Amino acid sequence: MIRIGIIGTGGMAKYHVQAFNKAPGVKVVACCDVVEERVKKFAEEWKIPAAYTDYRKMLREEKLDGVTNVTPDPYHAENFGWRPSPPRPGRPVAKSRWRPAWPTPAR
Ligand SMILES: NC(=O)c1ccc[n+]([C@@H]2O[C@H](COP(=O)([O-])OP(=O)(O)OC[C@H]3O[C@@H](n4cnc5c(N)ncnc54)[C@H](O)[C@@H]3O)[C@@H](O)[C@H]2O)c1
Repeated sequence: MIRIGIIGTGGMAKYHVQAFNKAPGVKVVACCDVVEERVKKFAEEWKIPAAYTDYRKMLREEKLDGVTNVTPDPYHAENFGWRPSPPRPGRPVAKSRWRPAWPTPAR
């Protein structure tokens, strides 16, 4: 089983969980948000076994294969450092980024 952690449980995070839940062999096992009541509610709603308010603690305590960073764009670098550290060496980190609502015309 591929074990995923989610950092940031605001508006977009549910779409990440829904997508992971559709993938065979993948389970979201932990989530994290700096707002405690938000992360607890999110974990309860999506049946995620572990909730954290510090992503470093989550990365230390959980055996994760991948992490998705769903925090606001301005904080991505701050949250992970300019060179993202995978939860374990050789493991991937995914992040959400803004995309234009419509394809940009070719120049
Ligand atoms: N691809 C798209 O269409 C699309 C659309 C909307 C948002 N996004 C992206 O999704 C990301 C999140 O957007 P959102 O609308 O969910 O934002 P949001 O503000 O609703 O949620 C972000 C959450 O991150 C938490 N957070 C911030 N710093 C944290 C930290 N250090 N550790 C743990 N939690 C932390 C906040 O408390 C908040 O709950 C952004 O990167 C945004 O650009 C993409």
